[in-house]
Amino acid sequence: MNHHVINSDTVLYGVIGQPIKQSKSPIMQNRAFAEHHINANYLAFQIAPEQLAQFVQGARAMGMGGFNVTIPHKLAIMDHLDEIDEDAKALGAVNTVVNRNGRLIGYNTDGIGYVRSLKDEAIADITGKNIVVIGAGGASRGIIHALLKEKPAQIIVANRTVDKAYQLVESLSCPSGTLLKGIALHDVNSVLSEAHIIINTTSIGMYPQVDEMPIDLTPVQAGTVVSDLIYNPLETKFVQEAKAKGCIGHGGLGMFINQGAYAFEYWTGKSAPTEAMKQTVVAAL
Ligand code: ATR
Repeated sequence: MNHHVINSDTVLYGVIGQPIKQSKSPIMQNRAFAEHHINANYLAFQIAPEQLAQFVQGARAMGMGGFNVTIPHKLAIMDHLDEIDEDAKALGAVNTVVNRNGRLIGYNTDGIGYVRSLKDEAIADITGKNIVVIGAGGASRGIIHALLKEKPAQIIVANRTVDKAYQLVESLSCPSGTLLKGIALHDVNSVLSEAHIIINTTSIGMYPQVDEMPIDLTPVQAGTVVSDLIYNPLETKFVQEAKAKGCIGHGGLGMFINQGAYAFEYWTGKSAPTEAMKQTVVAAL
């Protein structure tokens, strides 16, 4: 997809993780660089936890322009950076590193990428809304941090291990006017009928377990936004069944594209070609 010639000016970008072979970030970011005729290349690097420090040293020495960080390094990377953006710090996770004149700065574009996608594709205004988030892991934490900035009326976090839901809500600072509360997943039915937005952050329904659903949709009202962070399959059974009963479905592809778009914008200062990025990713799925 890159039409420029790789030469001595080419700047290296990449993504690190373990596993990493499934990542669609290289095709997406190389397409974005190509669209803007930027002389850069983006590669995937399989890095084990014990190699992380060495990788960062190498990135500095080689003058990498920046890199994305995925599982299992989103927390550990923070110890190796020169500066961490306020939101990434509050969130406790970094997914994007920018090399600014030799200083490595960490950001998190997952939560803001999700909220941009939710607002663009499903519901323009989140202020005053009742939100139910299923799951209390790293992904859940990132999107709740970003959702709180939109001043919803409430965010209820429902998790199988209820203590993790309690810990998560206690560790986030919640603006006045928003109720942030943890509940057990088996009690989620009592809050579903009041919800305007329901978000699955667990891996339930992800390929190859495509017949699984995180919750029973019976109490959910028509018109509710039903959102899933999963993008493989592009539409989960959860979102499909919700749409069949009159809900507004929202899949995880937009979040993936937008987290990459924000990263591209931080690296290059240019507006990301999101349509081209999306086309490339969909064609590769
Ligand atoms: P991520 O970083 O992708 O959020 P994670 O931190 O491992 O991944 O979190 C996974 C989340 O999915 C957790 O909330 C987990 O619930 P538990 O805290 O009870 O483990 C939830 N999850 C995963 N599989 C699940 C299942 N089969 N049923 C219910 N919840 C599940």
